[in-house]
Amino acid sequence: MTADFQVPEPAVAPQGRFVVLEGIDGCGKSTQIEALRRWLPTSGLLAPGVELLVTREPGGTALGAALRQLLLHPPGEAAPEPMAELLLYAADRAQHVEQCIRPALAAGHWVLSDRYSGSTAAYQGYGRGLDLARIAQLEELATGGLAPDLTLWLELPLAESLRRRGERTADRIEASGEAFLQRVIEGFAALAAGRGWRRVDATGAPEQVAAACCGFLAELAAGSPP
Ligand code: TYD
Repeated sequence: MTADFQVPEPAVAPQGRFVVLEGIDGCGKSTQIEALRRWLPTSGLLAPGVELLVTREPGGTALGAALRQLLLHPPGEAAPEPMAELLLYAADRAQHVEQCIRPALAAGHWVLSDRYSGSTAAYQGYGRGLDLARIAQLEELATGGLAPDLTLWLELPLAESLRRRGERTADRIEASGEAFLQRVIEGFAALAAGRGWRRVDATGAPEQVAAACCGFLAELAAGSPP
């Protein structure tokens, strides 16, 4: 009896990993994302053929780039009301999940996102005061329940965030006032405790912060529970 020889499918499909960085404006996320973008592919943590997708919210897709502009630099009198703001962030995320994040994870790749649904809970929930339970329902709708495997929270006090921002012109969210930003910081702390995020002290030198982030990524790759 003959049979066509077929290369067997690997018993275990490569497992994509979804990593998110969260934190207040000025916490150094962009610097750390760039450091991880350079380090991860050479770290030995990614199996052969596994790629790293680096992305962000808002603005990780073409539609998202337009929504980002509307959210952060709306023209004239077009600034969204809090509920409209919430829905625009959710629309950005729904597009991002469907077009970028899910396909990359399904192909076994790693995704590193600058912000995700934790930012909505922190800024629109704790910051703007919108109902957290309704935000959670909306997030479920926007993401289809897709949660990060690991969230790194870069913790920075408000005074240091303001100092680092210095003279740079604030976007619409950053310009929402110090009391707003303090509520956001407290929101991040509550979310970190409730959702098992990993806390990284963002007051240190960039290399120290990067070392802490790399350590948590190594744990994730090794399969330790986040
Ligand atoms: P970010 O890209 O981190 O700002 P920057 O250009 O300074 O690096 O984020 C843009 C702003 O959007 C930031 O102030 C936080 C805010 N934001 C929300 O309010 N809700 C959200 O769900 C997200 C993803 C961001």
